[in-house]
Amino acid sequence: MPDPSARMMEMLHARAAKLGRGESLTPPVVNAAKYALPGDPDHAFPYGRFDNPTWASVEAAIGVLEDAETVCFPSGMAAVTAAIMACLKPRARILLPSDGYYTVRVLLDEFLRQHDIDVTELPTGQMSDHDVSGYDLVWLETPSNPGLDVCDIAAIAARTHESGGLVCVDNTTATPLLQPVLDLGADLAVSSDTKALCGHSDVLFGHVAGRDSALMERVRQWRKLSGATPGPSEAYLAYRGLMTLDVRLERMCANAEALANLFYSHPATGSVRYPGLADDPSYPTATRQMARPGFIIGIQFTDAATAERFIEDCPAVFHATSFGGIQTSGERRARWGDDVPDSYVRLSVGCEPADALLGAIRQTLDSLT
Ligand SMILES: Cc1ncc(COP(=O)(O)O)c(C=O)c1O
Repeated sequence: MPDPSARMMEMLHARAAKLGRGESLTPPVVNAAKYALPGDPDHAFPYGRFDNPTWASVEAAIGVLEDAETVCFPSGMAAVTAAIMACLKPRARILLPSDGYYTVRVLLDEFLRQHDIDVTELPTGQMSDHDVSGYDLVWLETPSNPGLDVCDIAAIAARTHESGGLVCVDNTTATPLLQPVLDLGADLAVSSDTKALCGHSDVLFGHVAGRDSALMERVRQWRKLSGATPGPSEAYLAYRGLMTLDVRLERMCANAEALANLFYSHPATGSVRYPGLADDPSYPTATRQMARPGFIIGIQFTDAATAERFIEDCPAVFHATSFGGIQTSGERRARWGDDVPDSYVRLSVGCEPADALLGAIRQTLDSLT
């Protein structure tokens, strides 16, 4: 596995290395629809929808972490859509996780199935052994959101490539620092950077990265033609959040590892899902392909009311959807219709000081017994 800290180090200093005297270390926010464009329009920045210097700064930074060409988008779903559209062929066959982020399934159901696109759904836990021959696109999300099952990216990518298909991995729950999906063989990495990559719960953002320049040109073309373009201020916020990814992940993963053990051993909880627990079904594969098991924990309580009480009563848990932020937050995913038990809480572990976080959560759990 490549050394993620080397890529982080390179990313932190990449911009500085190119600066001239008096130029700012932080990228300027370029609010521009028009650029000076005399003569042939072959300039890098001909028009605001085509490209923007602030997008270019954040794309260069994420591109170092991915070690790949990167195109940014105004949300994770805009990135997901671009990746799918770039890979799509007439009458394409797509393999999709049945337990991944539900909006991707709704998108395909509502807008693509009627155009002779064949979509097969399969749980993430069964992907590694599935016969992938004949699929034009295999879509993976590992660890899956919200169930935290994992699949073997390298094995699936190798088999999909043998029969001429493409593999796209939604890497939102892991980030390129914890799981370098392109190094594992994926053709495209997709991410909702709204989550941990930007990490401050203040911006919607997304990106697609890949090492095949023709495929990435399709992704770029999709952005330009569909107009799914991020605002320059959002690109700046994304850049700023990204700079602390490594330190945030360090704290989030350490907190999650400690909390997973607490939930696991506490009488107020039932089963616990965390890819870092030795008896979790995800453990063997996660240990092979992830640098650390991440910052999301799935906890089953005795019933939905107890799960709600845990979230509401605990001062260290912000009751909200989404994940990957500074503050620990959680929700019952069944309230969105996800196929998980009613009492299942997806907890996104944040950057709080460990003792205070564990103390507050332990106290709330004790009060539930
Ligand atoms: C795994 C995953 N992919 C994509 C998305 C979509 O991201 P966004 O909300 O930034 O559009 C989400 C959002 O929760 C997600 O969890």
